[in-house]
Amino acid sequence: MSHHTHGHTIHWAWAYDAVIQVMSLGREGRFRRRTLELAELQPGARVLDVGCGTGSLAIAAARQQPTATIHGIDPAPEMIARAQAKATTAGVAPRFEAGIIEHLPYDDGSMDVVTSSIMMHHLPPETLSAGLAEILRVLTPGGRLVVVDFAGAGPLMHRLGALLRGESGHPTRHLDVVRDAVAKQGFTEPMLHPMKPGYLFGLVAQKPGADI
Ligand SMILES: C[S@@+](CC[C@H](N)C(=O)[O-])C[C@H]1O[C@@H](n2cnc3c(N)ncnc32)[C@H](O)[C@@H]1O
Repeated sequence: MSHHTHGHTIHWAWAYDAVIQVMSLGREGRFRRRTLELAELQPGARVLDVGCGTGSLAIAAARQQPTATIHGIDPAPEMIARAQAKATTAGVAPRFEAGIIEHLPYDDGSMDVVTSSIMMHHLPPETLSAGLAEILRVLTPGGRLVVVDFAGAGPLMHRLGALLRGESGHPTRHLDVVRDAVAKQGFTEPMLHPMKPGYLFGLVAQKPGADI
């Protein structure tokens, strides 16, 4: 299957974890735990972390809930290789594979929880919509979507790019873009949750259809 995406793929997996340490102000563990709190993983849950990068969240999920089946996908083979190596070292076995949010390689209704951690800002609007439609498809009725991402106008590099292209005016808050896209796609009303560091947001929504 082709893993071509209009999203921004990160290939520098070797340096990625160090960047996350800086971004999380040296408290990545707390950041991951908070994300998992929002996910409310149950024993035996089927979980997908989309845009998993070097696999830190999926590995933390597998440690927290050993009976869960955890999948992680990312278009970058470098990320998948590093995630697999880290999982082996950690002694857990999430299933990491190359893939894109636009075409999730999973059956309809096959996931209880889908997480997306600081990745949706990598997607242009049409890819974001296509990806959310795919998440809705693979979730079971009542299944849970957890998005963590930058609340503001996007990371500094994106802002600089926009400035260099001559784009001006008030930038749209990324948080509003994601919340609107999630609501438009047909999830339940998205609930916002504070995160640390405070420039991130947490969003939880569910696939309607079960007694939720
Ligand atoms: C900033 S990293 C976040 C990694 C990880 N989720 C974390 O919390 O550390 C964003 C990831 O999204 C991936 N990505 C980009 N386009 C994607 C797509 N279309 N589908 C899935 N993942 C994508 C990138 O390759 C990158 O690994």
